Amino acid sequence: MAEYPKLTHRPEWTALADHRAQGQPRLRELFAADPGRAERYVVRVGDLHIDYSKQLITDETLALLQELATATGVFALRDAMFRGEKINLTERRAVLHTALRASRDAVVEVDGENVVPKVHAVLDKMAGFAERVRSGEWTGHTGRRIKNVVNIGIGGSDLGPAMAYEALRPYTARELTFRFVSNVDGSDLHEATRDLDPAETLFIVASKTFTTIETITNATSARSWLLNGLDDGGTSRSSEFENGGDKAVAKHFVALSTNAEKVTEFGIDPDNMFEFWDWVGGRYSYDSAIGLSLMIAIGPDRFREMLDGFRIVDDHFRTAPAEANAPLLLGLLGIWYDNFFDAQTHAVLPYSHYLSKFTAYLQQLDMESNGKSVQRDGKPVEWQTGPVVWGTPGTNGQHAYYQLIHQGTKLIPADFIGFARPVAELSEELKAQHDLLMANFFAQTQALAFGKTAEEVRAEGVAEEQVAHRTFRGDHPTTTILSPELTPSVLGQLIALYEHKVFVQGAVWNIDSFDQWGVELGKVLAKRVEPALTEGADVPGLDPSTTALVAAYRTLKNA
Ligand code: F6P
Repeated sequence: MAEYPKLTHRPEWTALADHRAQGQPRLRELFAADPGRAERYVVRVGDLHIDYSKQLITDETLALLQELATATGVFALRDAMFRGEKINLTERRAVLHTALRASRDAVVEVDGENVVPKVHAVLDKMAGFAERVRSGEWTGHTGRRIKNVVNIGIGGSDLGPAMAYEALRPYTARELTFRFVSNVDGSDLHEATRDLDPAETLFIVASKTFTTIETITNATSARSWLLNGLDDGGTSRSSEFENGGDKAVAKHFVALSTNAEKVTEFGIDPDNMFEFWDWVGGRYSYDSAIGLSLMIAIGPDRFREMLDGFRIVDDHFRTAPAEANAPLLLGLLGIWYDNFFDAQTHAVLPYSHYLSKFTAYLQQLDMESNGKSVQRDGKPVEWQTGPVVWGTPGTNGQHAYYQLIHQGTKLIPADFIGFARPVAELSEELKAQHDLLMANFFAQTQALAFGKTAEEVRAEGVAEEQVAHRTFRGDHPTTTILSPELTPSVLGQLIALYEHKVFVQGAVWNIDSFDQWGVELGKVLAKRVEPALTEGADVPGLDPSTTALVAAYRTLKNA
């Protein structure tokens, strides 16, 4: 691998550091000197209107950031990703979530094989199955219609479909019930199934590896719940498959995985497996077979509209010039704050109740991708990498943690995501509330940017001892992402925007955004500790603190 010059020694980096050292730009002054920035600092992609005029930047900042992107090879790495090169170095894999939304006639090769026909074959198989469930043609073991769909998965095999199901609820088949089980805490499966009839319930076991302990444990318990609950006098227990599978399981369990062997071992009919491939990262997978629950919910046509939305942003990221390239700009703005303002976090604040799980989804996308501290060649990084991503839908956050954003001591860059229209199915009275929601949306970014000076506070007749308390510093940077309506296509556009933003940042920081070794140690230790909890077994090498805690746990448990 070619030697990568130390990032902080690059002239483009030191130029940015010098630029930053010239002082903190004030948004009031920037707008006064250049009102045109309100129109100029806008980028449009698909249905997304992205306004970054309230960022602490000037034309010079942008030019310097773009020079950094060029110098660090962001564009070359981007092209290598789209070409199917193995840019996930530690796992030696291609990174081709973009192939999941490629059009039927596209050609994307991995090891000389065009993968697009495989992608569409699985999409077609998913569509056929989704239609059969939606129409009632696919029935449970006792012949009853499927009314409930329970997705069992975790991380990328849960967050995407769960988030998108919430986001697109108005587009879902309302007569069906959808639940998402991820936590190995048995309460999750219990609450998800306690009011369901097994005869009407379909389980979708989603796991790329089909070895994830949480998912396999929950799927095993779900199988027992099904077989115990089916009111057929136990005839469903007759073994039909070679691997000890079960007739009932075949009608109530399907799998989404890359691992046919493990799926079969679990007892799921391989015909009921929907495949994806190792070049799809878990956190980049909900537009693959992992989206089956979503496809059943919204139907294949809407699912394809969502894929079209992804593709709009993929094409834009691949071809738009640097100065109008939305994911590039968002990625570079994040670097500006992360590395030159020492911002530790990034808030994503959607003003849509339907996006209640959006930020949780982005947490995995961003933090599992860019929460790294070694470079691609294994050397330690000596600069900040991925931020802590957090946030909940407005306006609830306004009455909880916005105080800290407005008047705390930390700089918290934030993305505000809003829509011009409420969803069509709301009553006229509820639709009218949308302007109030959006008034808050615009007011918050205004207050964050421009604050309120002491003079303005005094002019309102506020007593002098209160002036400092009621002053707002302002200069809190925000990006506003506005689109007409939360449709499947717009959701796809938003997700692809963040996927590529994360890519840009990983490329500049010279880290592998596509592995996740950091989750392994905890998994291994959990396996080791478990016998100590269940049987009180001695665990060799357990540290004194954990040993004492395990002892306390066992005392409480057995009290
Ligand atoms: O948390 C680690 C991780 O490997 C994620 O990357 C992945 O999305 C999740 O576990 C679930 O993995 P699987 O789909 O293989 O069950």
